[in-house]
Amino acid sequence: MKWYQRLPVKLAILFYITFALTVISFAIISIWAIRENTHRSVRESLVFNANFWESYLKRESALVTPFSQEEHALSDFATHFGIRLSLIDSAGLVLFDSSVPQNQLKNLENHLSRPEIQQSLKDLFGENIRKSKSVDISLFYVAKHIPGTIYIKDLGNVSFIRVSYTLSSLNDYYKTYMIVILVVSILLLVGGIVIYKYLADRFAEPVLKMVNVARQITKGELQERIEVTSSDELGFLGKSINTMAEKLVEDIKKLKKLERVRSEFLANTSHELKTPIFTIQGFVETLLDGAIDDHEVNRNFLLKIHKNSIHLNNLVSDLIEISKIETGELKMNFEQVNLEDLIDDVFDSLVDKATERGIHLETDYQTSDMKTWADPVRLRQVFTNLIDNAIKYSDQGSVTVHAEKTRYNELKISVSDNGVGIPEEHLGRIFERFYRIDKHRSKDLGGTGLGLAIVKHILEAHHTKIKVVSKPGEGTTFSFTMIIKPVSSPELEMEDEE
Ligand SMILES: Nc1ncnc2c1ncn2[C@@H]1O[C@H](COP(=O)(O)OP(=O)(O)O)[C@@H](O)[C@H]1O
Ligand SMILES: [Mg+2]
Repeated sequence: MKWYQRLPVKLAILFYITFALTVISFAIISIWAIRENTHRSVRESLVFNANFWESYLKRESALVTPFSQEEHALSDFATHFGIRLSLIDSAGLVLFDSSVPQNQLKNLENHLSRPEIQQSLKDLFGENIRKSKSVDISLFYVAKHIPGTIYIKDLGNVSFIRVSYTLSSLNDYYKTYMIVILVVSILLLVGGIVIYKYLADRFAEPVLKMVNVARQITKGELQERIEVTSSDELGFLGKSINTMAEKLVEDIKKLKKLERVRSEFLANTSHELKTPIFTIQGFVETLLDGAIDDHEVNRNFLLKIHKNSIHLNNLVSDLIEISKIETGELKMNFEQVNLEDLIDDVFDSLVDKATERGIHLETDYQTSDMKTWADPVRLRQVFTNLIDNAIKYSDQGSVTVHAEKTRYNELKISVSDNGVGIPEEHLGRIFERFYRIDKHRSKDLGGTGLGLAIVKHILEAHHTKIKVVSKPGEGTTFSFTMIIKPVSSPELEMEDEE
């Protein structure tokens, strides 16, 4: 990053430009205002002066007093007022000028074309500021037009009274102001650099801190946190970054756990697969080594090989099933399912196994409406697994499928047995893959330890959750609820109304 791309520098420059523009505008405006103001007061006093001269010249005695006597008075007055007075006739001829001797007047140019004279012809009063031709000094001229003219003895008819004021004294006055304004402005501009640099640094400081922490977080130092001190947008940003970092930490934990579960599953899977394969291999080798001719054991060995191959087949089927569900490859096909028929079917397929173990299969329906919204193939799998477990892990008694409506008009279904039960410490884990409380019993009965994991997955895909309550020695109940109708989207509902 180049120095001028850094936030505090940008901020300082931005702040400073704004500030400098303000200072400069203020300086210009004040200089202009002072100028305007003084010009206005000069204009006012010159207008007052012209009016005064008009009344003075119009007084009775002027008509009779010879002008040679008036001349001194006019010049004196003009000097006292600090102005220059010119009396001009309608042709633009200068009849009197307080700063030009009377005998040199004829050398003066005709004044009719002067801007203030021209303007006064239109507006009664006219004004102009310009450098005098004779002296290098700026003068403020005000002319008053007297349409009726004033007759002055020995002089003629005065048509314009023009008064002017030297601005040189005013210029000094400006200069003082301007110097003050300039000095103050320069001080402000110079001081501003220091102040704004400080302010920008202060302002950018929390942002820079955030950037630092964010940089560290991106580098993987997820334990870094921004110290949030303000409750403004910056504070919010800081909090957000912290929350993001926390979420990242959580996500990473989850990922790591997932990773662990995966590799555990992989290790378990290969172990589970190896066991029947090795067993089969062992028996086959023993048979090949001669046991095949031993009529006492050969049949027994083959039965064991058979049993293990069945187990291997179950294992592979369940694994394929579980991986399909987990990868999302298996799409659910929802439709209206009559649970009563479905459970009857499952009972039919398991009744022999149950009878063999001296177990009754029973139903207990508290509702006549047994319809539900589900994937029939998957739901059948759920019931098969649950009822199969109930049969397997019982030594007598009955297995009951119970159904009732909940107050939310859902179907609550449970599968209970009076079997061996599940000790409390195992309750939380039986849905894990390959988790079996009694491995030998499970295996003997053709279990893979994947049944409940599959059940849990399928019910999750049905947006419901399986619960289990159990008392060792007394029995176990698995239960879940199913919706009766599909959850309709708003569009469908609207169509229904139409
Ligand atoms: N109804 C039940 N009564 C007692 N224990 C059960 C019952 N259902 C499941 N279990 C326990 O949960 C474990 C996991 O069940 P499951 O995933 O179906 O595997 P499997 O039936 O292949 O052993 C079983 O091995 C068993 O220990
Ligand atoms: Mg099972």
